[in-house]
Amino acid sequence: MRLRLPVRIAWSVLRWLAPALSAAALCGAASAQAPAADVEAYRFTAADRAFLSTLSLDRLPPPPPSPSNAWADDPRAAQLGQRLFFDASLSASGRFACATCHQPARHFSDGLPLAMAAGTARRHTPSLLGAAHGPWLNWDGSADSLWAQALGPIEHADEMATPRSQWVGRVLQAQGPTFAAVFGPTPNLPDLATLATPMSPRGDAAAQAAWQALPVAQRDAIDQVFAQTGKALAAYQRRLALRPARFDQFVQALARDDGVAVKGLMSADEVAGLRLFVGAARCVSCHNGPLFTNHEFHNIGAPEADRSRVDLGRAEGVRQLQASAFSCLSRHSDAQADRDCGEMRFLKTQGPELVGAFKTPSLRNVAATAPYMQGGQLATLADVLAHYNRPQPPFYAPAQHPSRPHFDILPLQLTADQLGQLTAFLGTLTSPLPLDDPWWQAPVNSAQARP
Ligand code: HEC
Ligand code: HEC
Repeated sequence: MRLRLPVRIAWSVLRWLAPALSAAALCGAASAQAPAADVEAYRFTAADRAFLSTLSLDRLPPPPPSPSNAWADDPRAAQLGQRLFFDASLSASGRFACATCHQPARHFSDGLPLAMAAGTARRHTPSLLGAAHGPWLNWDGSADSLWAQALGPIEHADEMATPRSQWVGRVLQAQGPTFAAVFGPTPNLPDLATLATPMSPRGDAAAQAAWQALPVAQRDAIDQVFAQTGKALAAYQRRLALRPARFDQFVQALARDDGVAVKGLMSADEVAGLRLFVGAARCVSCHNGPLFTNHEFHNIGAPEADRSRVDLGRAEGVRQLQASAFSCLSRHSDAQADRDCGEMRFLKTQGPELVGAFKTPSLRNVAATAPYMQGGQLATLADVLAHYNRPQPPFYAPAQHPSRPHFDILPLQLTADQLGQLTAFLGTLTSPLPLDDPWWQAPVNSAQARP
């Protein structure tokens, strides 16, 4: 409290003097007068400023180490990963790459309610920015590392629909020398002609039968290269950085007491929205830190996209994790299981709080990445705010749910003006696209994904 007092006094004196002094004398602004309400709108105590700085991008450390991926910070692996990320010719159809859905110009999302490539996926494409910072990937946390995550969409029938053998064969054909330079030789690999046959434990019946018919040593070799392509893709994604948004500049201006910059950076409505976000609306209880996420799972009762096929979220995600052949605990992991895989060893696997719970998404760039939620079921930020204001409890279908889901939010009952202010604040989190950053671009000569 003693810390706040001088700041309070200074501001109340200013407010009292404001009508008499020109704004230029107060803070160098060109406008004639600073109305008392305006001064009040931008008043932040030292404690407020300290808290706001915890949300600022300059507090974001580098991505945490990834012990299951020995190549996570290898620049050559990142370059190789960048080529794989953008190269549609590696997919079975020759038409799809990661960048089909994760488009740099859309902050690595796609603008669609449900992702679409070889088919229509069940979920909405999240942005990749900041993904390297959390322990869990996907809306339900069904992967425990970026490299394990990447191996899902390659084979998935609705995404790149490319059987494991074909992916491995095409990567080696297109990038063989680079691949060997990064990862070294792989003994026991079948030749490229054999790899061209669809073979995978996750493919259709024919691909599964062909996979089972392979000698175990060859299956292992294919899995090893498959995992390594994921590790290169992960090394690439760890390089994707956010540039400061208007909100970050605002926090910096507050810290150096630059009143003119503060007002120029955020409108009074946006600041009011920020106050609601960290205050009465309690958004910051889940959307916190520089990425505006606690990286945890919650059920906020977002309307069910398809009531006949309820998305069980984390409850399903943990089962996939436990069954994963590519987790931190798997043989393709570079981690030391007892030392490095705490998240997997102490996994919470049961309980009503997992049912219909999804990973709190980052709110960075949120105004530029509509639609929203795991099923893309809310079209606009106004729809999202309307939901938080008067949420319906989660849909409960006893035949589909293992137990009645938790419900992690309370109605806000804010006014229309306040909802508008919150929406306005979210617009200050959009970072400029760093189009001069080479990691944001398709490498020259790669067969571009066609979105
Ligand atoms: C068909 C569109 C599509 C393609 C192609 C695709 N993704 Fe995704 N991506 C998605 C969807 C949808 C999700 C959410 C999946 C879920 O929650 O079940 C996702 C999730 C992710 C995530 C998790 C992000 C987070 O914050 O949890 C990462 C990382 C990712 N994808 C990387 C990749 C990589 C690497 C590739 C290429 C190997 C790829 N994606 C290909 C649509 C796609
Ligand atoms: C209890 C934790 C919690 C609180 C409190 C919370 N959120 Fe969320 N938020 C989530 C989760 C979890 C999701 C994803 C839910 C889903 O997909 O079904 C989400 C999704 C969102 C999205 C959609 C993002 C996207 O990319 O799809 C926005 C926008 C959002 N929240 C804003 C807010 C605002 C504004 C507030 C305060 C009014 C708030 N949230 C309060 C946990 C929370």
